[in-house]
Amino acid sequence: MKVAIIMGSDSDWPVLEPAINMLEGFGIQTEVMVASAHRTPDKVHTFAATARERGVKVIIAAAGAAAHLPGVVASFTTLPVIGVPINSTPLNGVDALYSIVQMPSGIPVATMAINGAKNAAIFAAQILGISQSDIENKLVQHRRDMAAEVEKKAVKVLAKKSV
Ligand code: RP5
Repeated sequence: MKVAIIMGSDSDWPVLEPAINMLEGFGIQTEVMVASAHRTPDKVHTFAATARERGVKVIIAAAGAAAHLPGVVASFTTLPVIGVPINSTPLNGVDALYSIVQMPSGIPVATMAINGAKNAAIFAAQILGISQSDIENKLVQHRRDMAAEVEKKAVKVLAKKSV
C-alpha cells in the first residue's frame, strides 16, 4: 500500500519533500517520480496507467505554471489524485491553482492550496486511514500534537502580555 508523488520538475522538490517526510512519519510507503505532462508525456502515461499494479492507492501530483500534470495523471487512472499547485511563476501559483482546480466534469482532481503539499499528505493518509487503523491512529496523534503546539504558543503570548 503506497502513495505515489509525481512532480513536474526537480524545482518542485522543496515543496514536496516535507510532505514525503510526513507520509513516511505516518508509516506510509512512498514512491517519487519527476515527469512532465508536456515534456515527458509518455513517462507520465506509463506512471499513471501502471500505478495500481505497483500497489499505489493514492497519487499526489504537483506542478507549477499551466499545471496540467494532475489532470493528465487522473485521466489515466481511477485512483484518487490529489493536486498541489506549485508557486513557480510570476503569477505566484494562481495559474497552477486555476489549472488544477478547474478540471472539467468527469475527471476530478482533489485540489489543495498553493504549495499545500503537507495537506496533500494528510489527505492521502486520511484516505488510507479509512481501512488502516494504524494510519488512523497516527492521524489522531498528529492532531493531538498540533493542539499541544497551539497551547504552547498561547502560553508564550500570555507570558509576553504579562511583561
Ligand atoms: C512545471 O513548470 C513544473 O512543475 C515547475 O513547477 C515549473 C518550472 O519547471 P522548471 O523550469 O523548473 O523545470 O512544469
